[in-house]
Amino acid sequence: MVVGSRHGGTREMGEWVVDGLRQGGIDADLRDAEDSPGPEGYDIAVVGGAVYAARWVENVREWTRTHSDALRAMPCWIFSSGPVTGPPFPADEESVQFGRLLEWTDAREHRCFPGRIDSPNLRPREKAMCLTLRVAECDYRPKDEIVDWARAIAREATGPTPP
Ligand SMILES: Cc1cc2nc3c(=O)[nH]c(=O)nc-3n(C[C@H](O)[C@H](O)[C@H](O)COP(=O)(O)O)c2cc1C
Repeated sequence: MVVGSRHGGTREMGEWVVDGLRQGGIDADLRDAEDSPGPEGYDIAVVGGAVYAARWVENVREWTRTHSDALRAMPCWIFSSGPVTGPPFPADEESVQFGRLLEWTDAREHRCFPGRIDSPNLRPREKAMCLTLRVAECDYRPKDEIVDWARAIAREATGPTPP
């Protein structure tokens, strides 16, 4: 599980994904895109990115682009941590501009989960943007849904291979 986070909310979602994968029998670990981990030695990949200005944060976008050959060669799932204006939340494809993410990963699935605004830790420009957009401190991250999603990934990844 590789994650790109700015304020830690998406990283914690990555921890929940790892929990779900482990519950499903997968020996998973969590790596930060900014540490440039290699994908070698892994059988599947789950990649998650925090969304700012409709795009994944730069470090995980760059990591995904750099390792696109390896990611396309293994089962891959991706998730975004985005919407903070709901509920109701916008549809996945309205929240994230994928750019070439789907092409780089050949992802089996992309899920966009609602995110978190950690107001005290925002940068001054981020605080100003939240004021302008009238977005308040919040935490909409659906922990149980994320763990369930990861368990479903584990089932698919470890299920019987077709003849
Ligand atoms: C300045 C700013 C811009 C944001 N832009 C978007 C956006 O364009 N689309 C979106 O869905 N979420 C947006 N968000 C919400 C973040 O994606 C959400 O808070 C996310 O969970 C943060 O993850 P992190 O704690 O890992 O950095 C924005 C948040 C901030 C503070």
